[in-house]
Amino acid sequence: MLPTTSRCLSPLVAALSLAACSYSSTQSGTSIGTGVSVNSMPGAGMRASASVGDPRIAPRVAARFPDTWRLPSGAAATFANNAMAVSNSPAASKAAAEILRRGGNAVDAAVALGFALAVTWPEAGNIGGGGYMVIKLVDGRTAAIDYREVAPLAATRDMYLDANGKLTDKSIVGHLASGVPGAVAGMAQALERYGSMSLREVMQPAIKLARDGFVVDSGLASSISGTERVQQFAGAAMFFPNGQPLATGTRLVQPDLARTLQTIADQGPAGFYRGWVADSLVAEMSRGGGIMTNGDLARYRPRERRPIRSTYRGFTLLAMPPSSSGGVTMAESLNILETWPTTAPYGSTQWYHTVASAFQRAFVDRNSKLGDPDFISVPLDQLMSKSYAQGLRRTVRDDRATPTRLVDSMMQALVREPMNTTHYSVVDRFGNAVATTTTLNGSWGSGVWVRGAGFFMNNEMDDFAAQPGMPNMFGLVQGEQNAIQPGKRMLSAMSPTIVLDSSQQVLLVVGAAGGPTIITGTSQIVLNVLDHRMNLADAMRAPRLHHQALPDSLTIEIGGVTPAVQDSLRAMGWALRPVRTLVNVNAIMRVKGGWEGVPEPRRSGGAVGY
Ligand code: DON
Repeated sequence: MLPTTSRCLSPLVAALSLAACSYSSTQSGTSIGTGVSVNSMPGAGMRASASVGDPRIAPRVAARFPDTWRLPSGAAATFANNAMAVSNSPAASKAAAEILRRGGNAVDAAVALGFALAVTWPEAGNIGGGGYMVIKLVDGRTAAIDYREVAPLAATRDMYLDANGKLTDKSIVGHLASGVPGAVAGMAQALERYGSMSLREVMQPAIKLARDGFVVDSGLASSISGTERVQQFAGAAMFFPNGQPLATGTRLVQPDLARTLQTIADQGPAGFYRGWVADSLVAEMSRGGGIMTNGDLARYRPRERRPIRSTYRGFTLLAMPPSSSGGVTMAESLNILETWPTTAPYGSTQWYHTVASAFQRAFVDRNSKLGDPDFISVPLDQLMSKSYAQGLRRTVRDDRATPTRLVDSMMQALVREPMNTTHYSVVDRFGNAVATTTTLNGSWGSGVWVRGAGFFMNNEMDDFAAQPGMPNMFGLVQGEQNAIQPGKRMLSAMSPTIVLDSSQQVLLVVGAAGGPTIITGTSQIVLNVLDHRMNLADAMRAPRLHHQALPDSLTIEIGGVTPAVQDSLRAMGWALRPVRTLVNVNAIMRVKGGWEGVPEPRRSGGAVGY
């Protein structure tokens, strides 16, 4: 369980250091933390969005955090009457807001945002990776688009083991680490089925950002200087001109990427999966001993799945089914927590104990029973059932932590490499909502940059159990269900989620980056809002915890837990693991008269609405 990656600090550094993070923030209008609001449309504030009624939730109450916590409660969120986009990149959120203002719906805007992130947030925003999109339309339709990468056809179960059967780092760095990218096909399919604009229209902002350039902010500059991986491959020329990392204030123009994006805009997914872009990708792969072929690219298909629908204390969650573990594991955790008639006060010993115990149990199932449903049978009904949760609840003692089992060596594996993913949330004035999480897996993916086409490739193969029973780069110990097979999707933790109130209207659009902490972090925003009646700003700033079964430790944020609570948790048998920062969430919440947006206060980002 890694702390969230920081754009300013690698997660490893973030975990070990108390150094302050220098955020980018182009402040204009109302803002929270590092968020940016461009909430300046004339007349905004006069009119609530016609289709968005007031949310059915209890009144909010002021949150109280420990005095030692660095993100005090009481900050304001960005408000907009009509529509909102929140992501880790202000420029990308702005691109989405532009589409929303032009009358596009949330899917149009989400796709615009996704392509813009590929330009302005290249460490994670991508066309060389994959992701998931959960959609809730105001007419009642819902969808879950799975555009996760798949293993190339030539992949084999033991491809990352050396001659002595030892796991190598080839699932993380270099040309063998990539799954077949799904992002372009997935976003195009979402747009075609649920959008209202053409690919050409929604890709314009991204193409412009790539072609004309944008100014590198301190966050991006520090992310670039913090990566050694990029320097090992062809992207070094773009991001380390003359051997030096791009400095803050530099205009980054990406002509190759602009050409690639224009080709996709003109030809649709075929512009990526066939033709010169595909040829460049395959040539790059074979130059470095990779196994991906034109055939792999040509046969890639996104899958539309039925979203997971679960309930928590009268609210409905729409979330991602496998191949992501996100929705099931969140649902299972929340089902366990729901068995307590009331929730312990936020931040109390009992709260940490029950929430961590729930996550611990749900992760035991996640790590052993989940995988790509096209390849294995997943016991979804069992894992999601309320009676199963009752049974698990009975294994939780009120006064003691239950050891998952003792595992010492894993902590090293946890911090093998920095990582990055990014989540964005969008709502439109019609009442449609989109939650999307996308990733290259590690920060800057495998490091491999496709020459001539200008984008980074993912290292998603490491999300498989490259050696079942051994930890991956997130310390996740996974089983046979998630072993490598050709054409199979690697299990994900990504958890784009939409929460509906009792009138089935959108209440929250939320999701996160941070490997397995995605599941626990996203769940905690839901718990903070529903159980602790926090407003969104407080829910986002509240100290977080994480437990993923193995390693058997309870990760907490430094300064976020009072010494007394830490003492009593230790006395109960919890092994506490303090880190600087956990999870990178971007969320939107419906409030009276409109929407509040909050980008991750621990990172840079932008909430832009009108
Ligand atoms: O799909 C997954 O679960 C991982 N590839 C996510 C990686 C991640 O969140 C890294 N980021 N911050």
